[in-house]
Amino acid sequence: MPVTSRIEEVRSEIAELTQAAPTTKDLMQGVCRLLHERMLKYNWVGFYMLEPGARPPVLVLGAFVGAMTPHTRIPLNQGICGAAASSGKTVVVDDVSKDPRYLACSLETKSEIVVPIFVKANVVGELDIDSHFPAAFGAEDQELVTYCAKLVGSRLEKSE
Ligand code: SME
Repeated sequence: MPVTSRIEEVRSEIAELTQAAPTTKDLMQGVCRLLHERMLKYNWVGFYMLEPGARPPVLVLGAFVGAMTPHTRIPLNQGICGAAASSGKTVVVDDVSKDPRYLACSLETKSEIVVPIFVKANVVGELDIDSHFPAAFGAEDQELVTYCAKLVGSRLEKSE
């Protein structure tokens, strides 16, 4: 199946999931499962959320699908994850071995995308995806992952 049709299909499956998931936690678990199952190059999919009230701020591992990572708590001055959360901008790394910020989760990881999640214009967490393939996250992948991050952000905003 061409990647564009697959991404469109996955987008509508995620939209259905958003209607069906009773809680934000269910939605986040569902997003991880669906992206991991359906997008063949998404080998680790997980959420890191800012710990409420933590000073200095720290990202804490939430729902994920893939191998357990040693990085369950990441300060904002560390990793690709810290860079995305502190800048509020999506970070795409085509070759993690060339990025000095990279914190290794699996030796097989070659590329990574991290998309921040916003509630009322503030970063509250992020969606992190690792791939065993170099440069796995093109423009359409970035749109799909951003779509998922926005859905979770709006759901969190509604449940506040
Ligand atoms: N690679 C991330 C750490 C999280 S693991 O990939 C699951 C980083 O550099 O922040």
